[in-house]
Amino acid sequence: MDYLLFGVIAYLIGSIPFGLIVGKWWYQTDIREHGSGNLGGTNTFRVLGVKAGLTVTIADILKGTLAARIPWVLDSEANLLIVGIFAVIGHMYPIFARFKGGKAVATSAGVILAVEPILFIVMLLTFFLTLYITKYVSLSSMLTGMVTIIVSILLQHIAITIVLTILTLFVIYRHRTNIKRILNKTEPKITWM
Ligand code: G3P
Repeated sequence: MDYLLFGVIAYLIGSIPFGLIVGKWWYQTDIREHGSGNLGGTNTFRVLGVKAGLTVTIADILKGTLAARIPWVLDSEANLLIVGIFAVIGHMYPIFARFKGGKAVATSAGVILAVEPILFIVMLLTFFLTLYITKYVSLSSMLTGMVTIIVSILLQHIAITIVLTILTLFVIYRHRTNIKRILNKTEPKITWM
């Protein structure tokens, strides 16, 4: 019963579409009609600039953290992580935005932040290092998930490894079109780094 309740709460928190809220309230712009059409931080950066992009990215991270921290009564790291998965599902398929959401990156990182801040720092370092080398946000997002799985295996953190594997599969699935564009060499590269 607790799982169901906290799973639903986490899904609803994950469903809050910050990209849509920031775009519509501050800029009267629906970011789903611009750029890649994705309802995430990267597309918000692309369409609306640094202030909006950072706001959406941080909010998307923190909703994952909040959703995974709420079920304190479940009293185990594994349980918090499982509930966190529902926040990521909410982010990808938000009930408040006709089930068209983001690509699971920031909210997954927020879930990991809730239970293991050191792995969150590993994620940040891996993301910016791969972004610096490749210039692809999408590729960096996917590689970050994979590298963090390896680090959590090395740390012998079984629960995090299992949940990270599920979250990284979500991330890869949601980047299907990006993968095609990377292979076709039509994926846009960042120019600011
Ligand atoms: O976090 C999403 C990012 O990896 C790719 O976003 O808008 O370039 O498809 P986008």
